[in-house]
Amino acid sequence: MDENVFCKRELEEDTFEKNIRPDSIDEYIGQKEVKENLKVFIKAAVMRNETLDHVLLYGPPGLGKTTLAYIIANELKKNLKTASGPSIEKSGDLAAILSTLEPGDVLFIDEIHRMPRYIEEILYPAMEDFTLDIIVGSEGNSRNIRIDLPPFTLVGATTRIGDLSSPLRDRFGIVSKLNYYTDDELNHIIKRTGRVLNVSIDDDASLELAKRSRGTPRIANRLFKRTRDFALVNGNGNIDLSIAKLALSRLGVDNKGLDEVDIALLKAIIYKFNGGPVGIDALASSIGEEVSTIEDVYEPYLLQQGFLKRTSRGRIVTEEAYKHLKIDHQGELL
Ligand SMILES: Nc1ncnc2c1ncn2[C@@H]1O[C@H](COP(=O)(O)OP(=O)(O)O)[C@@H](O)[C@H]1O
Ligand SMILES: [Mg+2]
Repeated sequence: MDENVFCKRELEEDTFEKNIRPDSIDEYIGQKEVKENLKVFIKAAVMRNETLDHVLLYGPPGLGKTTLAYIIANELKKNLKTASGPSIEKSGDLAAILSTLEPGDVLFIDEIHRMPRYIEEILYPAMEDFTLDIIVGSEGNSRNIRIDLPPFTLVGATTRIGDLSSPLRDRFGIVSKLNYYTDDELNHIIKRTGRVLNVSIDDDASLELAKRSRGTPRIANRLFKRTRDFALVNGNGNIDLSIAKLALSRLGVDNKGLDEVDIALLKAIIYKFNGGPVGIDALASSIGEEVSTIEDVYEPYLLQQGFLKRTSRGRIVTEEAYKHLKIDHQGELL
């Protein structure tokens, strides 16, 4: 029974995602430069009747990489096939995916930095010359064969561009970085989600949610979804400012959009490591989070907001963090 409940949940998440995900480039809010450039490259490829060059999208989770991959395929009017780095374990897995490609297809590989290095090497000739080199036969009696692939566009997404080998990175003709969104852009995203889901939200309430979404559309949509529940149960269904504030406080989101983990992280540095510097491993184990989660999800926003700094000896909290948490340098509450 538990499993069924879980499946239903998953399904609901999927439908929610599908409904609110913009599917054309004009509906994709923000990331102006990335969008404008992509529009030109897509248009030129269509005019020349060629495939679009391979695209690498990078940036923190929830900023719209997957969404953009779908949009690229839509705008090219081509099929999208998806795979993810961790699921490609053997060279045969990648060969199988590549051999199903049809002319002009867009192949999306999410978390491409997690693909094993020796598998990457199969991708190089595929990306450059649209060929696939495979070994057939058993040991002692094996031979190389080369298969021609149809021209295709690879769209890779990663939260960690630094983990990508340079030969792989260099094979992408278009490399785009997604940045955190402004409050105004998130406000638009929240309003759009409201329209799509047919839930009314006041302007000031939407802006409040936007400000607390740590620059991230996925978080904005998640806060919207939960706030909608409070509006239904505690109000009349409309999301007004007081409902939005109630939801945010119940969800443990503070006025800078920091959640419980962000705060635990900053406080750990202050109380357990005297404000730092502290190494990432010690920090991770002190708050019981994975190093990669801290590096990919929490740290980028704390750095961007100026609450955290990286030095050669480790992470330190800034004056801003002490002020925000209302703690003095002796660790006493102000
Ligand atoms: N530019 C955007 N405009 C509107 N909604 C967006 C935008 N970027 C992301 N979203 C929404 O945010 C959510 C997360 O985006 P996603 O593409 O899954 O992020 P990523 O792949 O970078 O982790 C999706 O529900 C998507 O609908
Ligand atoms: Mg994604």
